[in-house]
Amino acid sequence: MPEPKLIILNDAQELYVRAAEEVAHITGEAICTHGEFTFCLSGGSTPAATYDLLATRFRLSVDWKEVQFFWGDERCVPPDNAESNYAMANRTMLSKLALRSDQVHRMRGEDSPADAATAYEDELRKHFKLDSGEFPRFDLIMLGLGDNRHTASLFPGDPAIHETQRMVVAVEVSAEPPKRLSFTPPVINNAQRVMFLVSGQGKAAAVKDILEGPRDPDKFPAQIVAPQGELIWILDKAAASLLSPR
Ligand code: 6PG
Repeated sequence: MPEPKLIILNDAQELYVRAAEEVAHITGEAICTHGEFTFCLSGGSTPAATYDLLATRFRLSVDWKEVQFFWGDERCVPPDNAESNYAMANRTMLSKLALRSDQVHRMRGEDSPADAATAYEDELRKHFKLDSGEFPRFDLIMLGLGDNRHTASLFPGDPAIHETQRMVVAVEVSAEPPKRLSFTPPVINNAQRVMFLVSGQGKAAAVKDILEGPRDPDKFPAQIVAPQGELIWILDKAAASLLSPR
């Protein structure tokens, strides 16, 4: 894997704007190259402002009719629940764009976790026309970083960190809500590009561990992210404050 590209901004606002700029740029390249942009969204709170900017300030910079939206993880709650990653993306971005229903590939958090995981794997096979054992190649997978070093819904100590066959798994995590769905490392690491968005002093120790700590993915799950393609970390100075000078 090539060295991660670190983009360090002064503050969260600059981070949100730069992330939107990067996404808008990547969409153009993907759509020109293969006619669509497969965009895997992250949940949590950090990406919300970037999603809003994409649907407003950067709206005209993206050929939205060619964008296919997916999620890298989801909470096992209904799509209108405040904890739903789909609900956050819909509120901040999707609802502001004139999208066709076939552009939005939601993980069905309202279904039984095992069924929803299997159904999403079928959705991935269908959209990416996968043969048995193949993994999708997303143009961009966005990820966040938890202060306990998790990413997507791969939490410390979870066997899913070492999954090599499944594409989507149902997990129980030490956070609310506990039942979640998550991409596995083979899907994440097959992406053309993975982009972490991390903001705030509260994440500085986690960023340090992932980028400069001893290799221990069970303890630091985000270390398992090592894509064949490009790995970009977009950080603000606070989140990057414990990193060694580069
Ligand atoms: C989720 C996310 C999760 C998130 C991190 C960071 O479902 O919560 O996928 O991996 O990205 O927990 O969350 P914040 O951006 O809220 O700090």
